Amino acid sequence: MLKVEDNELLTRVGPRAPMGRMLREYWMPACRSASLVADGAPQRVRLVGENFVAWRGTDGRVGFIYEACPHRGASMALARNEHNGLRCIFHGWKLSVDGKVVECPAEPADTRDAFAARLKVGHFPAREAGGMVWVYLGKQAEPPPFPEFEFNNLPDSHVCARRALVHYNWLQGLEAHIDASHVGILHSGFLNAGKPTAISARDLGLAAAHKAPRTEMHVTNYGLREGALRDLGDGKTYARIRELVLPFFTFIPHAVDEPCSGRATVPVDDEWDAEWYIMYDTQKPLTPETIELLFAGSSGDPDNFASNLGGPENLWHQDRGSMDRHFSGFPRSVPFEDFIIQESMGALVDRSGEQLGRADVILVQVRRMLLDAVRDFEAGKPAPWNIAREQYPNIRAIATTIPTAMNWTELNAVETFREQAAE
Ligand code: FES
Ligand SMILES: [Fe+2]
Repeated sequence: MLKVEDNELLTRVGPRAPMGRMLREYWMPACRSASLVADGAPQRVRLVGENFVAWRGTDGRVGFIYEACPHRGASMALARNEHNGLRCIFHGWKLSVDGKVVECPAEPADTRDAFAARLKVGHFPAREAGGMVWVYLGKQAEPPPFPEFEFNNLPDSHVCARRALVHYNWLQGLEAHIDASHVGILHSGFLNAGKPTAISARDLGLAAAHKAPRTEMHVTNYGLREGALRDLGDGKTYARIRELVLPFFTFIPHAVDEPCSGRATVPVDDEWDAEWYIMYDTQKPLTPETIELLFAGSSGDPDNFASNLGGPENLWHQDRGSMDRHFSGFPRSVPFEDFIIQESMGALVDRSGEQLGRADVILVQVRRMLLDAVRDFEAGKPAPWNIAREQYPNIRAIATTIPTAMNWTELNAVETFREQAAE
């Protein structure tokens, strides 16, 4: 349970909200790289309660600016994309990728250039990696180290990043990704069917058979590691170790021969969330079949793969007739079950009425970490969890069997996988 004011502090993300100001201090995915074509249509992007436009110039570079034209606010999503500049169709101001006004043709010819040189454009650093355009919307002159996750440095064929726009606050998205205790219940229709789902380890049957794991947490400088531990007898423990890289990223445990699975929950505004599903394989290219396992039943639009989710008016197309075979009545794919449950709680859930149990301990921990961070940030401390570039490639989730006597926090996932792959 949370006090109403703490819930507000955690969930409000606009430019004047404390959490909104802090979240701007992290690199965040904004749109898919492939959705921007050189000299093609600019794309509207709503992020943390503000409207932006992303576009690709003639030379391939990406620009990221406020949607409102710096002259009088016409939408730059309507602009012409011509010769390395975005030209507003109202009075013809032309903006460069690096955020300068390079032409303002309606001004008198003799003062035009001097006038243009004085103008300020709200533009933001943008980078491309992992098939996504990343932006930094914060206040520091020097952005934080770029998150060099493994998937940001793989060949294109090894990574698939898709986005779903869903009607709930970002914290609901994050809480769904860190909540291990729902996996064996909400998703049991998939687990019991023995269907490979690509986001769950093949041996997730174990998770279904032992619904209540022992959960332990280990706080790190980037967030949290969570171990969901199930005793198998014979001195063995099945450990699912999830990585939480605050504030946006979660990595879901998987076995050595399965693709890795990352999630980012990035606020669109207070009531909408961009859910990024990032599947990647460090060893080999992904196959269309593997990708399809994760996105089965999706709309086919990689920029909004759950646009066919439905809503409260049709109970998200729940198929009651399937419920004797599929627990939730949502047999399309695992992500759909998560999205629907979060939307069903309302766009911005009031946590003051919750009744939490022992299984919810990680939620309590993460909320406390976020509350401490945002209060410290408001008091003038730097945003936490922005780690050194070299640390990012070592963050990987894992599902494996370990000796019960072993301390799971000492398990290095990257090394363990290397050893298992060699066996
Ligand atoms: S509003 Fe864009 S040029 Fe005037
Ligand atoms: Fe889930």
